[in-house]
Amino acid sequence: MKILIATEKPFAKVAVDGIASLVKEAGHTLALLEKYTSVEQLYEAVSDADALIVRSDKVTKEVIDAAKNLKIVVRAGAGYDNLDLEACSQRAIVAMNTPGQNSNAVAELAIGMMIYMARNTFTPGTGSELKGKRIGLHAYGHIGSLVAKLAKGFGMEVYAYVRDPKKYHLEEDGVHTALSVEELYENSDFLSLHIPATAQTKGFIGKTLLEKLPKGACIINTARKEVINEPELIEVLEKRPDLKYATDIATENHSTMVEKFGNRVFATPKKMGAQTSEANINAGLASAEQIINFFKSGDRTFQVNK
Ligand code: 3PG
Repeated sequence: MKILIATEKPFAKVAVDGIASLVKEAGHTLALLEKYTSVEQLYEAVSDADALIVRSDKVTKEVIDAAKNLKIVVRAGAGYDNLDLEACSQRAIVAMNTPGQNSNAVAELAIGMMIYMARNTFTPGTGSELKGKRIGLHAYGHIGSLVAKLAKGFGMEVYAYVRDPKKYHLEEDGVHTALSVEELYENSDFLSLHIPATAQTKGFIGKTLLEKLPKGACIINTARKEVINEPELIEVLEKRPDLKYATDIATENHSTMVEKFGNRVFATPKKMGAQTSEANINAGLASAEQIINFFKSGDRTFQVNK
């Protein structure tokens, strides 16, 4: 079978080498399309692929249509909002993600961004410490729970909001359960977002929630830009000069926001949450293994388009 890695933002070489040897050992062939600059290049590359490994690359209906032999696509990572699941299902193509494999990298970045913002984006002047502050985790999956552990190491008080607390071990982890999403926002000096972008969450975080944040709070977004209602975020930042926003996924308006709000807002130049060798190796190798097992025994663990 021909397995294609198509990554606009490439994996570290060590991860690609690891995938290549797994694929070879299993008797498949590997093709590589990195740093592509047009969808046409992707259409061409997928045309004879049996399996596809991507990162945040958009796997649209057009990509699926171009991939005549495709049987499985694996998003090397957690969020699969970049895959057109309906188009996959229509062609009986199995879509998977690799949950948890890159979570530590994202969790560490969330903490790094908190320190960066607490220290005024490393500009001179008096900053503040994480110790003793309250952090609110909006969702408590693989990343949220890792952020909780790290935050506790910094002496922070950790709160989390989850829809079904019975599914998690918040008390065991020493994490306070916020009974409502509003209560979470009211109690968060740092509010860290860990919800996926779905039809239900798109634009979910707007004025009503943001206005509830306590004085001097900072929002950390290592999730998706789509979950924030950006015009309302701007409105609240205008009204509340005490609030800060740091994101790993800059929006189109980011430069305007910088002009308006200076170092109260920060965005990484290119999404880097999962951009570590370790995360690339974990998620990349997991993707290859999942594909190999699927071809070997029909294993559909981690299928997301059931
Ligand atoms: C994920 O959903 O796994 C992260 O957002 C990582 O995305 P990336 O592979 O594009 O860095």
